[in-house]
Amino acid sequence: MKKKIIIDTDPAMGTKGGDPEDCFAIMLAMNSPELEILGITTVQGNVPVERGFSNATYLVEQLGKDIPVHTGKPGTYSQDRNEKRKWLGQREEMEQLTPILPVENDKKGAPAFIAETAKENSGDIELVTIGPLTNIAQALDLDPELPTHINKITMMAGASTVQGNVTPAAEFNVWADPESAARVFGSGIPIRMVPLDVCHKTRFGREQLNLIGENEHPFCQFVQKSVDPWLKINPNKEIIDQGLHLYDSLAVALSFMPEIADFKKAYVSIETKGEFTDGQTVSEFNESIMGQIFKPKPNSEVALDLDVEAFNSLFKERVIDFLVEL
Ligand code: RIB
Ligand code: CA
Repeated sequence: MKKKIIIDTDPAMGTKGGDPEDCFAIMLAMNSPELEILGITTVQGNVPVERGFSNATYLVEQLGKDIPVHTGKPGTYSQDRNEKRKWLGQREEMEQLTPILPVENDKKGAPAFIAETAKENSGDIELVTIGPLTNIAQALDLDPELPTHINKITMMAGASTVQGNVTPAAEFNVWADPESAARVFGSGIPIRMVPLDVCHKTRFGREQLNLIGENEHPFCQFVQKSVDPWLKINPNKEIIDQGLHLYDSLAVALSFMPEIADFKKAYVSIETKGEFTDGQTVSEFNESIMGQIFKPKPNSEVALDLDVEAFNSLFKERVIDFLVEL
């Protein structure tokens, strides 16, 4: 039986210079017979929310899929945080390749879609989140029963035993909206966390992009145009030399193929008050002194190791070969 999922995402393929990787993850999900995508919801993160909404809608249309797309509103879960993260929602300077759709075009909105779809499919639905957790926190506010409807959230989030990528303490998706992450980790919904610890083992480089770019199909040319600047302008020289990380694609893969990773149970709390550590995912494996004494009940299973070859071959077959043969 297929696993029913909603993908919550901040897709930037279509916005030159934005991180294009969410769209590879969505393509991986679309080409995975193990999954049925009930909807795609977009959130402020890699790009302002109307750009993410536009990019997701374009992807769905270009690949001829009948998948509803709904968008969140600009801004973070807490207004106080919004002030500190304003620039995330205001980066208008990047060149846009897909037609812009105003957020107002979506009457329902992402949080209501998530809450309603979860209720309609109660006990038979999972979320795969590959962006900040704003929409999920807002859906929890709309329906306090939401945790009883959703079986699991597989999320690309956090850095468990390694340093963050946006600050030394925090990974981008959690840092972008820590209060929403705190709400979700405290919701009681079982979480499969896919942190930087394993995401950093994955790569997509120039060689793979060239293969896709050799296909004259307009969609492959669009992928080539969108991804090329990210490989060139990323401030991280290692990304330029060795390729970008397939963070979000790995989360999608682990939503239906967890056997390719090793997980360890942890009680994960989110730092929301740190001067230097906002958005840190503090992972208690009950191995610290306090953990051994108080033994908090785990709220997450955290991926800490990966069969990289198994992931690479899945990604090659379902994303790269798919595009090369389009
Ligand atoms: O930290 C990695 C996450 O933020 C991914 O979801 C990716 O899209 C990035 O921008
Ligand atoms: Ca993302």
